[in-house]
Amino acid sequence: MTETLILTEIEDGVALVRLNRPKAMHALNTALIVALMDALDVLDKDDDVGAIVLTGDVRAFAAGADIKEMQDASAVEMLQKDHIAPFDRIRKIGKPVIAAVSGWCLGGGNELAMSCDIIVASESAKFGQPEINLGVMPGAGGTQRLTRAVGKAVAMEMVLNNRTLSADEALHYGLVNRVVPVERYLEEARALAKEIATRAPLAIRAGKKAVNRALETHLADGITEERQSFYSLFSTDDQNEGMKAFAEKRKAKWKGK
Ligand code: CAA
Repeated sequence: MTETLILTEIEDGVALVRLNRPKAMHALNTALIVALMDALDVLDKDDDVGAIVLTGDVRAFAAGADIKEMQDASAVEMLQKDHIAPFDRIRKIGKPVIAAVSGWCLGGGNELAMSCDIIVASESAKFGQPEINLGVMPGAGGTQRLTRAVGKAVAMEMVLNNRTLSADEALHYGLVNRVVPVERYLEEARALAKEIATRAPLAIRAGKKAVNRALETHLADGITEERQSFYSLFSTDDQNEGMKAFAEKRKAKWKGK
C-alpha cells in the first residue's frame, strides 16, 4: 500500500496541510514534495480556502531532503532528475502559506519553511542547515533565503558549521514571526491563518506577491511593480467596498472580486 504523504483538511476557510512521513521525520523525498505541491495547487484554486497552514508534527517539521533517496546519485543524475525543482512551485502559490514548525526544521525542511510566507514556531523548534555534515551544501534556497532572513553572519555559521538556532534565536534573528508554547503552536498558526483568510483575497494575493518580490528584485523595480499592483486593485469591487465601508463606519464585506 502506498503511504498518504500529505494529509489535508479544511475548516473555517483554512486548509491544514500535514507532511506525513513521521517515521522518517517527514524527510522530503521527491514523491512527498510533488504531492505537497499538487495539494497546494488544488487549495490555491479552492474558493473555500483563504489561507493555508503547512506543518509536520511535534517532533519534526521536516528533517530535510531525503538523504537515502539521493545518497548514490551522481552529479549528472542529480541534474537530470532535478529533485529540487518541485520546491520552486511553492513560489507560485498565491494564497498565504503559514508554516507551523515544531521540533527539527533542517536542511530542505528549513528551506521549505522559509518558502512559506509566515513561520509560527513552537518553543521546541530547532532550525538548521546541516548539509555540511553530509559533504554538501544547501540546494533548495538555503544559502539565499536564509541569508536574506538572518543576515550573512549567522547564515555563514549555519551553512559552514551546522549552527542550529533555537526558536528564540530564530525569532531574534528574524527567521520566524512568533514563538509559542509547544501545546499551542498549531492552534496559533491556524488562528492567524483564519484571521488572514477573512481579509480581501485579491489584496492579500497582491500584497504577498509584492513582499516576496522585495527579496528578488531591485528597489526601483520593486517600487514600480508595487505601485502598479496598488493601482490595479482600484479595479476591484473589494477596493470600492473597503473604502466605502470605512467612510460609512461599518465592517467591509469582501467578495474577492
Ligand atoms: N533523510 C532520510 N531519512 C531521514 C532524514 C533525512 N533527511 N532525517 C531523518 N531520517 C530518518 C532516519 O534515518 C531514521 O530512520 P530509521 O528509523 O529508518 O533509521 C528516522 O528518520 C529517525 O531519525 P533518527 O533516528 O536519526 O532520529 P534522531 O532523533 O536521533 O535524530 C535528526 C533526528 C537530528 C533530525 C537526525 O535524523 C538527522 O540528523 N537527520 C538528517 C538531517 C539532515 O542532514 N538534513 C539535511 C538533508 S540534505 C538537504 O536537505 C539538502 C537540500 O538542501 C535540499
